[in-house]
Amino acid sequence: MRIWAIANQKGGVGKTTTTLALGRGLAALGQRVLLVDLDPHASLTRSFGVPLDPPPSGVLELFATPPQEIAALARPSDIPGLDYLCAQAALATLERRSASQPGLGLALQQALARHGERHDHILLDCAPTLGLLMINALAAADRLIVPTQAEPLALHGLDGMVRTGEMVERSRQRPLPISILPTLFDRRTRAGNETLKQMQDRYGTRVWEDAIPVDTRISNPATLTAPVQDDGYPGRGLAAYRHALDWLRAEDAAQLEKAA
Ligand SMILES: Nc1ncnc2c1ncn2[C@@H]1O[C@H](COP(=O)(O)OP(=O)(O)O)[C@@H](O)[C@H]1O
Ligand SMILES: [Mg+2]
Repeated sequence: MRIWAIANQKGGVGKTTTTLALGRGLAALGQRVLLVDLDPHASLTRSFGVPLDPPPSGVLELFATPPQEIAALARPSDIPGLDYLCAQAALATLERRSASQPGLGLALQQALARHGERHDHILLDCAPTLGLLMINALAAADRLIVPTQAEPLALHGLDGMVRTGEMVERSRQRPLPISILPTLFDRRTRAGNETLKQMQDRYGTRVWEDAIPVDTRISNPATLTAPVQDDGYPGRGLAAYRHALDWLRAEDAAQLEKAA
């Protein structure tokens, strides 16, 4: 089982879109994939057409005493091999509980460990808040993927997220490799191209050499949650995500080889 956290302390940078696009890419490769919505705003959950009122069962139940099991909470999507775990608005109240209930930071990691090999790949779609849910994701992850909008203001969010990832890596004493994915790239703008270059200068090989372009076809969640057709990846955006997935899998393979 491989676990990727998709996180950035900035909102609107393409985290949820990346989670969906990589998830369907992995499912198309025949992997059993579970997407976990860790954002109380529940965009990923909504993308699958799940009504939020009354709240669906999902991530909150992993934090109950006793916790429920992922296998009982995961729902199948219309895409073969792709399951998801819903977020609820009440996830936002977990932060308060964590003060009186130490150990909540590892609840997700423990639930995934109990879940074992029922899924090959887990993608954690994080909220843009550095709180208990993000800590849970980073504690559980084998890799941190940071989607970063190719525009100047997004660089601060990237720096903050990389620092957070490195801090978690030091405290858990297990490697947490970071992969930076430039998103929402408009190659016609100077700001976009300059930001891309700055990212590459600052973070070198941790940055994907290409970028996910702005593509209106993927801004419609229905495109991302509909079954994969024969042509696989309609449009430039999803085609770019397929290449990003190849890179991420190669990075994972290299890391596993190094560790062996
Ligand atoms: N490559 C893209 N092209 C066009 N629209 C995009 C692209 N990536 C994301 N979007 C849109 O941008 C908005 C923010 O993306 P989202 O994935 O929800 O970001 P986050 O999860 O980081 O808040 C959404 O409306 C989404 O549909
Ligand atoms: Mg999101």
